Amino acid sequence: MKTVLSGIRPTGNLHLGNYFGALRNFVEMQHEYNCYFFIADYHSLTTHPTPDHLQDNVRSVLAQYLAAGLDPEKATLYIQSDVPEVIELYLYLNMNAYMGELERCTAFKDKVRQQPDNINAGLLTYPTLMAADILIHKADFVPVGKDQEQHLEMTRTFGNRFNRMYKHDYFPEPQAFNFGRELVKIPALNGAGKMGKSEGDDSTIFLTDTPKQIEKKVKRAVTDAGPTEPNSVMPEPIDNLFQLMNVVSKPETVEYFREKYNDCSIRYGDLKKQLAEDMITFVNPFRERIEEIIADEAYLRRVAEMGKEKAKASASKTIREVREIIGFKPL
Ligand code: TYM
Repeated sequence: MKTVLSGIRPTGNLHLGNYFGALRNFVEMQHEYNCYFFIADYHSLTTHPTPDHLQDNVRSVLAQYLAAGLDPEKATLYIQSDVPEVIELYLYLNMNAYMGELERCTAFKDKVRQQPDNINAGLLTYPTLMAADILIHKADFVPVGKDQEQHLEMTRTFGNRFNRMYKHDYFPEPQAFNFGRELVKIPALNGAGKMGKSEGDDSTIFLTDTPKQIEKKVKRAVTDAGPTEPNSVMPEPIDNLFQLMNVVSKPETVEYFREKYNDCSIRYGDLKKQLAEDMITFVNPFRERIEEIIADEAYLRRVAEMGKEKAKASASKTIREVREIIGFKPL
């Protein structure tokens, strides 16, 4: 059976980008594959969270995974720091990862621009930790959004390099995966770029947002003066609103507004009203389930414990084998 793995950093609430980029695919796959889904709390240390913040975020992201439909009986749901074996593999992979390739990584270059005062070594070696996450369970498929494509490419490079170096066909080549669809980039509401936690709360729709919050954010979304010629090319902010509509609204609703755009009779106020309504319908059940699950601390603890045991069994087997391949053997 093929193995599927994915993870999310616990740096805030999950948003529509996380859901459509990674979670939804995973929920759909968990019955057919050997699945691992984890909370990447080691990765989140690059931004220096306080201890309280870190724990709260891990707990709430776990509740959000469960609310999104991950089944702890089917998939292995675990917290990365419960499986420190991954750090050992991270160390081995770092020995064969070169400065030049790490510095050229787009996500690293973005971080250098965004947080010039905190360019730590953890950021530089983020791709090797991510590769270790994936390779430690020898995953075949990794459901992620488009922004993670390069990290997957690097994972294949590191895995293949290890195989070549030790003349062992050990690690498989993991593929970024979106359940047969294209990898997606869910756009932000501010007219440019992708939806994300760092884009600011106003342009991101979280699975925990109330109807009022959603209405307010969508109302403020960037638009323009409207089309002046029939069938004109959509500028990015408008195209983004249509992309968002594509994921939360019915196809006939999208078609209706597309026609209105094409014959120049569109009113953005109507489009936004409909988009907000459809987002609310989509998000409401998540928010309600999240509230229920997060209140049940004993259940969350049980889920984490169960995941830890299963993930540790798989990770320690890999580490035993990797140690042997590298040449760490009893004297
Ligand atoms: P993170 O926490 O930034 O995002 C988690 C997942 O959500 C996807 N995503 C999006 N997809 C489409 N549109 C968006 N606007 C959008 N925003 C986020 C991301 O592609 C990702 O799949 N490095 C990872 C966490 C990680 C990981 C791993 C993932 C660590 N180790 C091993 C897979 C396998 C990250 O920062 O994701």
